[in-house]
Order: sequence, then structure tokens, then C-alpha cells
Amino acid sequence: MDKKRIIVGISGASGMPLAWELLRQLRARRDQAETHLIYTEGAARTLLQETGQTPQVLEKMADYVYDNQNIGAAPASGSFRTDGMIVVPCSMKTAAGIASGYSDNLLLRAADVTLKERRRLVLVARECPLSTIHLRNLYELSRYGAVILPPVLSFYNHPDSLDCCIRHITGKILDMFGLEGEGYRRWEGMDENL
Ligand SMILES: Cc1cc2nc3c(=O)[nH]c(=O)nc-3n(C[C@H](O)[C@H](O)[C@H](O)COP(=O)(O)O)c2cc1C
Repeated sequence: MDKKRIIVGISGASGMPLAWELLRQLRARRDQAETHLIYTEGAARTLLQETGQTPQVLEKMADYVYDNQNIGAAPASGSFRTDGMIVVPCSMKTAAGIASGYSDNLLLRAADVTLKERRRLVLVARECPLSTIHLRNLYELSRYGAVILPPVLSFYNHPDSLDCCIRHITGKILDMFGLEGEGYRRWEGMDENL
């Protein structure tokens, strides 16, 4: 199998453990995927708040890391071939930027390029509740070809911990790229005895 080249964008919404787990699992599959990390200033702030960590820890988990202000970096061009991009978590500001094509940082530009090249763009969009503006932007993004994959809870898989919920979302994200998530429990049909 060819190694997948995946851009991982991290923006300043809540949900840093999701970004962490995704990078960790991709790292564990280094033979199957290489990661290109871009994170925003907002992400660094939210990461500190939610995990007490600095972005350097995330950087160590990626194969390549780019400065978000460096709009001349490789992912800014469509000629840099990738299998797609994941924005996890995706803030409503970043969703608005992608939806409007306002690419004033590398993360936004890379997402814009991913759409224009008709590659897979997965947005783990997080806000609660969602305003009409958020819903309109996410609807438009879906129409433009992005996959809107909000980190919502599932109960049919009987999660017994927060880690289990995080692994379930991570599994769904990786599934979008044909990669199998660790501990990802697929629905096998309803138990006939219930
Ligand atoms: C602790 C924390 C949690 C946040 N959670 C969210 C969130 O869940 N969704 C969201 O859209 N913005 C959230 N924000 C606000 C964004 O970080 C803010 O709008 C920022 O400007 C986003 O910029 P970025 O998309 O460039 O990272 C949060 C901010 C902080 C400090």
C-alpha cells in the first residue's frame, strides 16, 4: 500500500485530546501515513488550557511541521500532492475562513488548496450550540465537498470512558482515509436477542 500523505490542521476549538490521539495513531502507522502539521495560535492557547501542554509536544508527533504564517510552505500549493487534510478540531472562525476562501494563514490556504484540488477535506467542526452563521458555513462547506465530522458522542458502541469516545471519533476520521483506527468498534448490526 502506498504511504498516505495527510495534512493535519489544528485550530483553536475545544477538543485538543482528539488532535493528540489522531497524531498519536498516525504516528503508530508511520508505514502507512506521513503527517504534515499546521496549527494556529488559537490552537496553542486551547491546548495549554485543555492539556497543560505546549505545541512542541504535538510537533514531536508529526513528520513535518509548518509555521502557520509561512504561506510559502509546501502545503500552500496544489502541486504538493496529498491525500487530503483533516482539521481537528475545527473552530468556527477557521470554518468561516475556509467557507469564504479567505486564506490569510497556511492552515486556511492548505484547506483552500485541498478543496480546489478536489481532495478529501475532513472538518472536525466543534461548537455548541451552533448559530445560524455556523450552520450556514458548515452547510456551504459540505456543498463544496468537505466532510463535516463533528466530534459528537455515540452510545450504540457502549463507551465506558472518555478515551473510548475519543478513539471512536478518531476511528471515524481515519476511516475517511481508509485507515483503521485503534479500538474502533464498527456497527455489526443489532443484537437479535435484544
Ligand atoms: C479554551 C478555549 C476553547 C474554545 N473553544 C472553541 C470551540 O469549541 N469552538 C470555536 O469555534 N471556538 C472556540 N474557541 C475560540 C477560538 O479559539 C477563537 O475563535 C480563535 O480566534 C480561533 O482561531 P483559529 O481558528 O485561528 O484557531 C475557544 C477558545 C478557548 C480559549
